[in-house]
Amino acid sequence: MTDRYCVFGHPVGHSKSPAIHAAFAGQTGDDIEYVAIEAPLDDFAGAWRRFVSEGGRGANVTVPFKEEAFRLCDTLSLRGRRAGAVNTLILGGNGLSNDFKVYGDTTDGVGLVRDLRRHGVELAGARILVLGAGGAVRGVLEPLLVEGPVSVRVANRTAAKAEVLAADFRDLGEIAGGGFDAVEGPYDLVINGTSASLAGDLPPLPDDLFAPEATAHDMMYGAEPTVFLRWAAERGAHTVDGLGMLVEQAAESFFQWRGRRPDTAPVLEMLRQAL
Ligand code: ATR
Repeated sequence: MTDRYCVFGHPVGHSKSPAIHAAFAGQTGDDIEYVAIEAPLDDFAGAWRRFVSEGGRGANVTVPFKEEAFRLCDTLSLRGRRAGAVNTLILGGNGLSNDFKVYGDTTDGVGLVRDLRRHGVELAGARILVLGAGGAVRGVLEPLLVEGPVSVRVANRTAAKAEVLAADFRDLGEIAGGGFDAVEGPYDLVINGTSASLAGDLPPLPDDLFAPEATAHDMMYGAEPTVFLRWAAERGAHTVDGLGMLVEQAAESFFQWRGRRPDTAPVLEMLRQAL
């Protein structure tokens, strides 16, 4: 029987996840169906229950439902618990009865780390600057810190949010938070997790931000480089956009559902061509 999966979002029509998972399944021979579902803003839990009653086995969750998905989980990965949000739901029996339990995980951070590694970025010992302190950043800090020893500074327009975020992760490693004025380069890796690129904005950053051979990563992607990546390239940094992270987080979800790891390179190439 075909196993059903989906991505929940609102809006979700633009999502590349159905194409990504169809390509993965094509590679591995898994018999799955993967669709995009626009859940009502006021009833994510109901949409999930309906999906499960129709044979759904697991789901990805995107904006704005990641926190609600977190709340409906019976069991969470450690990193999902820390993030307070999940992008992957897995339905499974508990092995003792027919009660089906919901397990949640967040694969964004693993996706980011894998994509950085693919680009040859050395994380151990790296001085890392993370821009932004919203949900996107909270979801990736744990995998970054456990790659350590790294030193992470989180900088945000609203400084207090970055301070709180850093405090929440301090037991995992060296991490500090504050405003953009507290940024002190040089950094080996600068990750833009703000949504400033959407508005064509650039956080206020000093010109000497980058160490030699530094990498700039933007979680956003598009046909053209983001304002941040253009700015970084002009200052000599290697640049990486968020498309690889998108494919890698999907591959990790696929692995958790199906137990097989797809080859991400051809899928990334396919998406790049279609941008
Ligand atoms: P997400 O889930 O994508 O992280 P979010 O939780 O709304 O979304 O967080 C958006 C992040 O982008 C925040 O860090 C926000 O800064 P504030 O906390 O000060 O609001 C940041 N951001 C959005 N627009 C920005 C801009 N024009 N310049 C700098 N930072 C911006």
